[in-house]
Formats: sequence, structure tokens, C-alpha cells
Amino acid sequence: MCGIIGFTGSHSAVPVIIEGLKKLEYRGYDSAGIAVVGSKGISMVKASGKIENLCKKIESGEPIEGNTGIGHTRWATHGVPNDINAHPHMSPDGRFAIVHNGIIENFAELRNELVDRGCTFKSDTDTEVIVHLLSLYYEGDFKKAMMKTVARLEGTYAIGAVCSECPNSIFVTKSFNPMILGVGIGENFFASDVTALVSHTRNVIYLEDGELAELTPDEISVYNAAGKRVEKTISRVMWDTEAAEKGGYEHFMLKEIMEQPNALKSAIEPRVKNGIANLSELNLSDEELRSINHIVITACGSAYYAGCAGKYAIEKLTRIPVSVELASELRYDDPIVDEHTLLIVLSQSGETLDTICAMREMKNRGTHVAAIVNVVGSTIAKLADSVIYTYAGPEIAVATTKGYTTQVAVLYLFAVHAALALGKIDEGEARRLTGEILKIPANIQRAFDLNPQIDELAKKYYNNKSLFFIGRNVDYAVAMEGSLKMKEISYIHSEAYAAGELKHGTIALINEGSPVIAVACYRELFDKMMSNIKEVKARGAEVLGVAIEDMKKIFSEADDVILVPKTEPIFAVTSEIVPLQLLAYYVAKENGCDIDKPRNLAKSVTVE
Ligand code: G6P
Repeated sequence: MCGIIGFTGSHSAVPVIIEGLKKLEYRGYDSAGIAVVGSKGISMVKASGKIENLCKKIESGEPIEGNTGIGHTRWATHGVPNDINAHPHMSPDGRFAIVHNGIIENFAELRNELVDRGCTFKSDTDTEVIVHLLSLYYEGDFKKAMMKTVARLEGTYAIGAVCSECPNSIFVTKSFNPMILGVGIGENFFASDVTALVSHTRNVIYLEDGELAELTPDEISVYNAAGKRVEKTISRVMWDTEAAEKGGYEHFMLKEIMEQPNALKSAIEPRVKNGIANLSELNLSDEELRSINHIVITACGSAYYAGCAGKYAIEKLTRIPVSVELASELRYDDPIVDEHTLLIVLSQSGETLDTICAMREMKNRGTHVAAIVNVVGSTIAKLADSVIYTYAGPEIAVATTKGYTTQVAVLYLFAVHAALALGKIDEGEARRLTGEILKIPANIQRAFDLNPQIDELAKKYYNNKSLFFIGRNVDYAVAMEGSLKMKEISYIHSEAYAAGELKHGTIALINEGSPVIAVACYRELFDKMMSNIKEVKARGAEVLGVAIEDMKKIFSEADDVILVPKTEPIFAVTSEIVPLQLLAYYVAKENGCDIDKPRNLAKSVTVE
């Protein structure tokens, strides 16, 4: 989704903004632009397509002078991706330029009002109303004009604005969308994402909804909605520039797959006390946990599939019923929940709008909200009653890998922690299970031995129009995530089915040569899976079986076999998914796809 960046300092703003926009590319975008305030007013350049197009336009145009500027990568919502709809947007008098992330929900009403007052609109965007309002309310005081403008806006936004009459100031504000201020020495920054800031500073301020900040090279002043100055804490970003770079890998996705053992260590090890999983961040006493009679997990995309995977471990160990709900559905479902319901929210970015809305809806109904989030200081982290960070480090590839596995691992820790608190397992069993969770990083490392084999298999499976993934029980959850990985980065149509459900419809699609990836790691149902494999084979399918290393019987039915390391069955997802992540990666590579930035997708979905 859209990304924003701004800089004010003692040297040219253009290179800093372009570098920042390149760091934000991974979020997904279709056009980009910059606006810089110089002695002759505001210069603005915008271009649809890649940031390279913008760079070429800047190079071939008039030189841009100025030490204060803003930039934007746009992911079109209102209006097609073209140069005019790209941000920044400038007021007709050339006095203001703004960048905006989010959606102004009352834009149609504001636009009509502004048209009646004589304003002419150039773009189809909702954003352009903001710059007209600024111009309308400006009476020589930039801050006042910002406050009056913001008071008229409904919806979600993170806004950065510059004014030709204040060449050393940027004003920023936010509501629901992230806005992070970078604190430098003689220079200051803002961005929608810390990845755009860490090469300049690791000292950041997280702006809260309704706050307004003025950035000058020497100072950052933050005001509340009433315009009163507020003191803000400066936080330190714990990771550095290298963590957000490819480090010799061809793609971020491969790097992030390979980072999983370390990411999982960071997620698991600090939460083991005296050999037993301990999620103290839950902020729920044993008594409070005992009062929970229903757990709802909500999320979007892969985080939803992480919830599906975690459900099995939680139910098995705690015997509390778990429902896993898509956040975009749950928010409108009038859910039957109360103070005895625990809501677990999963989100890598902590900014997914549907997840935020579902979470608010549930919170209003009295549920305790525990968020499992990667990005520190994100909206979901701030809104939750308790936050458990996954500590996976920055995830740049749009298709999540380490984000997903760390979420699953935290759900495993929760399952053991809660089961012990509820008296469903004793300390000995809690210690044994925790020991198994601690083995996850090493098991994933072992799964990497499959890398060359999977690279070869991709050469066989890449040239297909459609792929099917099947599995039972927790393997079905793995199949769903494997299938999503495949379709999102390779653009091959792919579907996941509960293997037992095949014969109720989907089997009609299986014919000679149909590729079926059969995840058959769940020992208790292995024989049932073997029957399902036979069913599809009998209709001509080409089967790639995925099983545990000692389940050699699978060779008798499957055409190709991937054997994954043996793990405690309750916690098997984290290593089972690795070959499917790699398969999707190599298939996409064979197909020449843009692996880290797949078409139409965004890393952080901040619109409904
Ligand atoms: C987008 C991403 C997915 C991600 C989903 C939820 O669709 O492309 O990779 O799983 O959003 O994101 P979240 O940040 O909430 O985990």
C-alpha cells in the first residue's frame, strides 16, 4: 500500500526522498512522486510505474532545489494509476503540497462543497480535497490551517504537508495510518514505515492518532488535537539497515525464508522460563485464563492461515474451543462474544485495516484482546490489551514467510502456557512440550537441506495453469498457506482442499496430469491421506507427496516425495511449511515473476 517519506535538513531533500521511496517499494505501489520546497516555491515531479520512471523524469527536468520535501508511493484506490492521480497533490496557488496514505471517507461531500466555493479539481483522488482545504483555511499560519483541515476529515490518513511560505517546515498528522518521525541531528524525517528511516536514524517517535507534528531541521514539536504541545518519548529501533537489505540473496523472500531459524529463536527463547513456556506479556492471571470459554483468532491473509494452524495446538492442549475468523468477515458478523472470550489478533505489520476494525468491534463487546504482532509500535500493538511481539525483524517481501512461522510459534507457546495455567497438563508435560518448541529453529534449519531437491521439482511443476494442495487436520492448514504462497508469487491458480472433501466436488477438476501437492505429515491420518492420493492418482493426477522422514510408505503412491524432519506432531507446521515456501519461490523464479513485489498485492493493506 501507499508509502510516505519526508525530510527537512541542511542539504538537498531529493536524494533522501528517492532513497526512502525505494525502501518503501516493497509495500506495493503503482506510481510515485516528490515535492520539494525551495527558494522559488514548490517543485513537484510525479510518474506512474516504477520509481525509476520518477528518477528519469527528475533527471531530465529542471534541477530541483530545496532542503525540505515529501515523497509518496501510491497504490491506487480512488482513480487509476497515472501521473495526475499520483501524489503529491498541490494547491492551485502552488502554496501547499501534500502526500496522503489512507482514504478520506467524506471526500465526495467535501469535494462538492469545495467545487461550490469555486475550486477546480485535477485528479480523481480523495486526497486532493485536503490540499484545497489547506489553501482555503490558510491565513498566514500553517499550523492553524492544518488543524482546521484535519478537523474536517473523516476516514483514515497519514498526511505530510509542505508550504512554500515555510520552506523549513513539514507538518504531519495521522488517524489509523502509521506515521513515524525520525529524529536526526540537524535533520528530521517522517515515514510510514521505519524501513525508510533506519539508514538515517534509529531514534523514532510514534505519532498517535489526532496528533499534529511540525518538523524543522532542528526540532520536532508535537501537538494534541487542541493544539497544545505534548511531550513524546523517543524510541530506539532495535534492528539496523542490514536487516532491511538483501544481504547477497537474489530476493528478499529467499533471505527471509533462510532467516526463519533465527527469527524463531528470537520469538521463542525469551519466552521460556525455567524450561517452560511463559507468555507473561499476555497480562492474564491464571484465574482470568480459567474464565475464558472461547478463543477467537482473527487475521487476514497468511496471518489468518497461521491462526488456522495454531488452532489445532491450542484446542488439543487447552480444550478451549477456538474459532478462526477472517477479520474482513468478523467485523460485520455481529459476533457472539463476551468477557469470557479471548480474542487473539495476528498481524505481521500491525496495520491491516480489516484486522484493526475487527479488533475494535470485539473490544467494544468486552473481550480481552491479545495481539501477536511483528512491527513494534504499530496500530494493532497500541490498541491491544496485551501485545506479544514476534521479533521476526523487518519483513520486506510481500509474501510473508518468517512473519507466518513466528506467529505460529507464538501460538504454540500460548497453547502450552494456557494449558498449564488451566491444569490441562502438568509441569512435566509443559517442560517436554516447551523442549519440542525450542527444537523448531533447528528443525527448520534441517528442512533447508531440501533446497536443491525443491529447486529441481520446481522445474517439473512450474509450467502448469492450476495446482491443487490437499491435506487433513493441521496439514490442511499448511496446504492453505502453501497454496496462497504459490498463487500470490507465481500467479498459478492454486487451491487448497481438505482431502476428505475432494470427492464432494473438486475431484471433478482432476484429470490427466493435474498436479496435486498432498501434505501427508499428520501421522494419525496418514492412511486416510494415502487413500486420497490413490483417488486422485486414479484420475490421472501427478502427485507430489509431503510427509515426515520416516513415512516412507508415501513413495508407493506419490510420483515425487519431499520428506521433512520429524517433529512433535502438535508443533509440526513450522517445519512442514518450509518446503512449500521454497516450492512457491522456485516455481515463481522459473516463471520469471517479480517475486518480492507480486502484481496487485501490497505488503501492508491499510484500506478496506
Ligand atoms: C497482505 C500481505 C500478506 C499478509 C496479509 C495480512 O495481504 O500481502 O502477506 O498475510 O496482508 O497482513 P498482516 O500484516 O496483518 O499480517
